[in-house]
This record gives sequence, C-alpha cells and structure tokens, in this order.
Amino acid sequence: MKVFSRTRIWTGVITTFLFTLTSNVTEACERQCQLNVSHAFADKYQLLSSLHFSTLSTKIDQSLFHGVPTTAYSSTEAANAIQHLQEAVTKAQRAWDVSLFRTVFDTIFVDEPQFRGDCNEPHRVDQPALGVNWTMTDCHAMDYICGNPPSICHFLPMIKTRIERKLAEQLETKIGGSSKIVGGGVSENGGGSADEADVYANFLGPALSKVVMTHPKLEVYQATMHGNLNQILEVVRDQIVGETAYLAPGAGPVRNAKWIAEWDLEIKLLLLSFP
Ligand SMILES: *[C@@H]1O[C@H](CO)[C@@H](O)[C@H](O)[C@H]1NC(C)=O
Ligand SMILES: *[C@@H]1O[C@H](CO)[C@@H](O)[C@H](O)[C@H]1NC(C)=O
Repeated sequence: MKVFSRTRIWTGVITTFLFTLTSNVTEACERQCQLNVSHAFADKYQLLSSLHFSTLSTKIDQSLFHGVPTTAYSSTEAANAIQHLQEAVTKAQRAWDVSLFRTVFDTIFVDEPQFRGDCNEPHRVDQPALGVNWTMTDCHAMDYICGNPPSICHFLPMIKTRIERKLAEQLETKIGGSSKIVGGGVSENGGGSADEADVYANFLGPALSKVVMTHPKLEVYQATMHGNLNQILEVVRDQIVGETAYLAPGAGPVRNAKWIAEWDLEIKLLLLSFP
C-alpha cells in the first residue's frame, strides 16, 4: 500500500513536470509553424530561382543548334528537340523546388544557431492569450535566439542571409557543377564541370541522347549540341554568381535586389500568427 501511494505521488510529479514542459513548448514555433514558415520562405525563393530556369529554357531555344548546319534538321525536328530539352529543364526545376523546401527548413530549424530553447531567460515578451497573435513589439523585444516565433521574427535578416547563401551555393552547384560563392574562390567539390552537375547529368544529358537517338541525322552533331548546352549552363551559372555577389565575404550591406521588401513583412506576420 505504501509503495502504491508513493507511485501515485511520483505519477503526480511526472504529470506536473510534463504539464509544465507542454505549456513551455506551446510557446515555441512548433511543427505547423515550422512548416508554414518554411513554405513561406520556399515559395519566395522558388519565384527567384525560377528566373534562372527560365533563362536556361530561353537560351536552349536560342542556341541549341548553334553551329549545326540547317541541312541536318527540319524546322519541326528542331522544334521537337528544343521542346524535349525544355521539358527536361522543367523536370530539373521541379526537383529543385522540392529540395529547396528541405533546405529552407533545415537552415532555420536544424542548422546552428537553432531557434529553440527557453525564451524566458531573461524574460522579454509575454505569451499572448489563446487566439491572440504576437505583435511587432514582441518581434522587436525578443532580442536573443530561442524557440518562440518573435525570436525568429527578430532575426529574420540573419535567417534570410543563411538561406540565401545555402540556396545560391546549391543552385550554382546543380547547374554549374561547383560553387564559386563559397569563400569567393575554390569550390567545396574541387571545381566540377557543368557536365557533372545534376542538371546536365540527370536531365539535359539524357534528353539530348534521346533527341539524337530519334533523329539519327543529328548524331554527328551531338558533340556540338552538347557543347552548346555546356555553354548555356555556364551562362546561367555566371548569372547566378553575378546576382549573388552580395553574399560574398566583405560585400558589405548589399541586399538581394530581387527579394521584394514586403515579403519580409508577410513572413513576419505569418510567424507572429503562431501564439
Ligand atoms: C499553414 O499551412 C496549412 C497547410 O498548408 C494551411 O492550411 C494554413 O492556412 C497555414 N497557416 C497559415 C497561418 O498560413
Ligand atoms: C493573426 O495574424 C494573421 C496573419 O497576419 C491574421 O490573418 C489574423 O487575422 C490575426 N489574428 C488576430 C486575432 O489578430
């Protein structure tokens, strides 16, 4: 009997402890908040990176057949080949969009410094009542890194830079085979070429092989077309590098020219709507 009642006391203590833990956790940016905020960021970056895939598509239209004599193909064959390669670009873009969400999520919620932990040491903001949003004042006041939405809101500029740097490196590597953005110099993976990059190896390369297979007359020009694609990928890669110059070490307080200022407010309000 004595043992039993002691067990009951412990159960009570544990319940109280769990209850305390739960009521602390409700303050944090929890699963739904994490997913929504990551989606909000990813949607914006998807818009920005779609510009590079558009360039890729346009350039394929303009110069896939550069240096191939017009006697080697009919206009229908050319149109089909271009369409097939542009479809490959669309597939590559879709794959990128999926990976983009994961990168954004990990950058905010998994990488260091992580937005988690106690937001009451020291106390800065009061937890709003149920159904009431956090405020911009909370966003301003929550000036250290911890788990609640106002903290993420406060550090939004820093988070954005972390995400931008990672995405720019990844996109450059997927398209160009290596990244010049890292440290502004030699890439992490020893300077791979566009041929080895994901977009060529997994999408454009196989599409070109298919085109040549279905139009045997083009076979002798496969190397030329391959060269053209390589050139196009390098142009797009340079475009990415040029646009992300503001991320280079020592670039100063330059901003992403394509990021629309209102998006910051949109994401902040979304964050603050998770009390
Ligand atoms: C969060 O995402 C869910 C599912 O995508 C959506 O239904 C909900 O409206 C979003 N909430 C906010 C505040 O954006
Ligand atoms: C909380 O914020 C969201 C997003 O800005 C907004 O749609 C909603 O009306 C706000 N709720 C309250 C109670 O103010």
